[in-house]
Amino acid sequence: QPTRLFHFNVQWKQVRRLCYTKSLLTINGEYPGPTIIVHEGDNVEIKVSNQVARNTTIHWHGIRQMRTGWSDGPAYVTQCPIAPGGTYTYKFRVIDQRGTLWWHAHYSWQRASIYGAFIIYPRMPYPFSSSIQEEFPIIFGEWWNADTEAVEKEMMLLGKGPNNSDAYTINGLPGPLYQCSNKETYIKNVEPGNTYLLRIINAALRNELFFAVANHTFTVVEIDATYTKSFTTTAIMLAPGQTINVLLEANQEPGGLFVMAARPYLTSLFPFDNSTTIGFLRYKKRKIGKFPPPVMSYSLPDNLPSMEDTFFATDFLSKLHSLGSASYPCRVPEIVNKRVISTISLNLQDCPGNRTCTGFRNMSFFASMNNQSFIRPSRSILEFHYRNLTGFPLSTAFPEKPPHPFNYTGVDSVAENMKTEFGTKLLEVPFGMKLEIVLQDTNFLNPENHPIHVHGHNFFIVGRGFGNFDENVDPENYNLVDPPERNTVAVPMGGWAAIRLIADNPGVWFIHCHLEEHTSWGLAMGLIVKSGSKPDECLLPPPNDFPSCGKF
Ligand code: C2O
Ligand code: CU
Repeated sequence: QPTRLFHFNVQWKQVRRLCYTKSLLTINGEYPGPTIIVHEGDNVEIKVSNQVARNTTIHWHGIRQMRTGWSDGPAYVTQCPIAPGGTYTYKFRVIDQRGTLWWHAHYSWQRASIYGAFIIYPRMPYPFSSSIQEEFPIIFGEWWNADTEAVEKEMMLLGKGPNNSDAYTINGLPGPLYQCSNKETYIKNVEPGNTYLLRIINAALRNELFFAVANHTFTVVEIDATYTKSFTTTAIMLAPGQTINVLLEANQEPGGLFVMAARPYLTSLFPFDNSTTIGFLRYKKRKIGKFPPPVMSYSLPDNLPSMEDTFFATDFLSKLHSLGSASYPCRVPEIVNKRVISTISLNLQDCPGNRTCTGFRNMSFFASMNNQSFIRPSRSILEFHYRNLTGFPLSTAFPEKPPHPFNYTGVDSVAENMKTEFGTKLLEVPFGMKLEIVLQDTNFLNPENHPIHVHGHNFFIVGRGFGNFDENVDPENYNLVDPPERNTVAVPMGGWAAIRLIADNPGVWFIHCHLEEHTSWGLAMGLIVKSGSKPDECLLPPPNDFPSCGKF
């Protein structure tokens, strides 16, 4: 197998958007960052050189990292940060995975500008019939005029929700609905009659997004680098962390110009951050002229769902199914060895210290799973685990059931459910365990779905519903035939999702909400998968240049 080498230099770069120039943390001066292209089965080595005076780490989102957890990247879960001036070479093999994934920084809120596409070409031809003339990435992001590490610090200090970003972006460009951004507009030229493969990635920090192109439909063929049964839809929706491949037929007349647009899915309780980013599909033969046309001369695609369209959201997600073909069978576990039920909640605590907090009711926001707010330790949990050390951060077990009775279909009336404990709790399972995790949203102060991401594993979304999960009834209705396989699940607001996975990747894996402020507030846990008895079921030793945490 070939080894593909990449160099990532973390550097500052002056970047101008919205008539504002700032120093942006980038990889090799690119924003968004470079696209990584590899083939299924390749060995990959990415040498990251940290050339700025800040800590950093990089995560390869969705790459399974079989036995190579040392290269997974989340700060303090698997590794200590790459210090200023330091280097670390992430090494892993892309085994039995193909499609569109992405990579991003996994330290503080650096992923606002340090992100890019990770494309794996398949060994076998695509299982969807089509002649594809061209493919291109569509990456949604957010632009902040502010420094996002400062945004996180301030929000934690004041216990409040963070300031909004200044724009959503398509491939780093806000588009003409934002002030001063006509020139920073994504324009894709297409040929009438061609079919395009769009590799769509939601790298935004804070919002699930709808996306549509006027007068065009999408055929969904893949989610989170797993093939799906294909279906045609007028729009798509994806949560931060998720990816979707779609086919788009350029079936309009030469010379046409069509708006593409992305905006958040959010309910009106807190409709923060509800602006729209647009770009254009420009059909060949269109004269360039004055471009883009003045804002008044076009409108949003009428196939773009409105911001609160829960009907579209639910319907769209229910259409996602694993391909389940002979070449790509659906490997959902039909029975499981363990079911863990965890609430995912936003909490309010008294403001720490003598400070004044400006969150709800002068208290401070936190977030939790089973009322445990996850604190990232100052040492690598993976290293502790590998060296068989005991004590912090390996001291306590994650509770496998909610600590209080729950009735979460409204604002919760049980005061205990508003409180949380702080710690670093880990769920430990033996190698090969078939595990189910039911994620129950509590709906308190929460205007959107929680995208829960599991590192090191794909999982199957066997069930999803509104209201309270009922252990006696809901499992009867699970889809154990062709449930969607993903690495990030949007747990419906005021509802639940049940996921199943096979814990066949030894190591320590972060499980967390991919809405950035929720992770900062502690909506996370750690999963330890023990090594098995056979040599190929064991975590490999750490590489020599591993950024270790202190002396062992
Ligand atoms: Cu995409 Cu833990 O991250
Ligand atoms: Cu969340």
